[in-house]
Amino acid sequence: MKLLVVCLGNICRSPMGEGALRAHVAQAGLDSWITVDSAGTSGWHAGDPPDSRAVACARRHGVDISGLRGRQLTPADFHDFDHILCADASNLDNARALAPDGLQERAVLWLPWAGVTGETAIPDPYYGQDRDFEQSWALVDAAARGTVQRLSRNGQSCIIQP
Ligand code: 4NP
Repeated sequence: MKLLVVCLGNICRSPMGEGALRAHVAQAGLDSWITVDSAGTSGWHAGDPPDSRAVACARRHGVDISGLRGRQLTPADFHDFDHILCADASNLDNARALAPDGLQERAVLWLPWAGVTGETAIPDPYYGQDRDFEQSWALVDAAARGTVQRLSRNGQSCIIQP
């Protein structure tokens, strides 16, 4: 199972999402089944480390994302990944515009897909303050927890009903 977290720049929300998701996958002991990556719909920060405020925020929550580097989403990602988890509706539109025929549905809005209720978008903290990064972290962490729960449930039902 391959998961790709997507936002606009791949330096704030999606690297925090990747870090949170990796942490929840590891905690559930599912690392050998689930792999996680992230990308941006833009290539503005390709090759860049995550924003220092995102690195600091993740570190406050016990997750090291300093080694991640930005990259741009490509049409090939729709073949390579089972689910492309988008931070907001604009990211979803931009991602689906790249999708090869028949693979659009692999891109989803992450929060509702993960069963998180209330918010549907992870707001962009780039022009904000530390508290905005904390708010984004709370949402990506909830989405990451919901993702592992969803996939664990589906995985179990596959075993029970092959
Ligand atoms: P992200 O935030 O999509 O959460 O990585 C942004 C990062 C950079 C820019 C916009 C949003 N930018 O305009 O460079």
